[in-house]
Amino acid sequence: MKKRIGVLLSGRGSNFEALADSIAAGRISNAEIALVLSNREAAVGIERAKARGLVTKVIPSKGLEREVYDRQVVAALNEAKVDLICLAGYMRLLSPYFVAAFPQKILNIHPSLLPSFPGLEAQKQALDYGVKFAGCTVHFVDENLDAGPIILQSIVPVEDADTEETLSARILKEEHKIYTEAVKIVLEGNFNISGRRVVRS
Ligand code: GRF
Repeated sequence: MKKRIGVLLSGRGSNFEALADSIAAGRISNAEIALVLSNREAAVGIERAKARGLVTKVIPSKGLEREVYDRQVVAALNEAKVDLICLAGYMRLLSPYFVAAFPQKILNIHPSLLPSFPGLEAQKQALDYGVKFAGCTVHFVDENLDAGPIILQSIVPVEDADTEETLSARILKEEHKIYTEAVKIVLEGNFNISGRRVVRS
């Protein structure tokens, strides 16, 4: 049986497309994207998923209390029988209810070397701080922002001439690579979590 992945996104969906490409090319084997779900009707990623012939669903979040909303999303993910959930530019904090429904089954990608620069505009935060190396992180999701155990990270240099755009583009290339690698690790189950440490077995 193929492992079924649910992707949650709110925006352009380049990380979703990188995962979809990796599955299509066999870099992630024995998996399929069972559902692409967004809280925003206008998410470009939803159009891109439709163009690929994938099952999509939009559940608008506006005005709903966090857990009330998350109950609808969890129901949709259960209905799609997902084995793994990949947040890919999903601009919402998950409720404890959501996190508890899928223990060690929710991944997120963040454009910084966590625990530095969680939250919005991570690349701008890195530039403003003046770090010489930036990067990205794939981690398990808990109920805190950009905070769960780290699966993979990748480092990129910050150049003197960098703008938020050029640095973001350099980081994004790495995001697309390590998200695929992290999904492989988790789907293959070759890891243990000891405290906060994700250790490959
Ligand atoms: C990425 O930088 C990701 O790390 C962050 O949100 C952005 C989403 O980009 N969580 P995309 O929608 O995958 O292109």
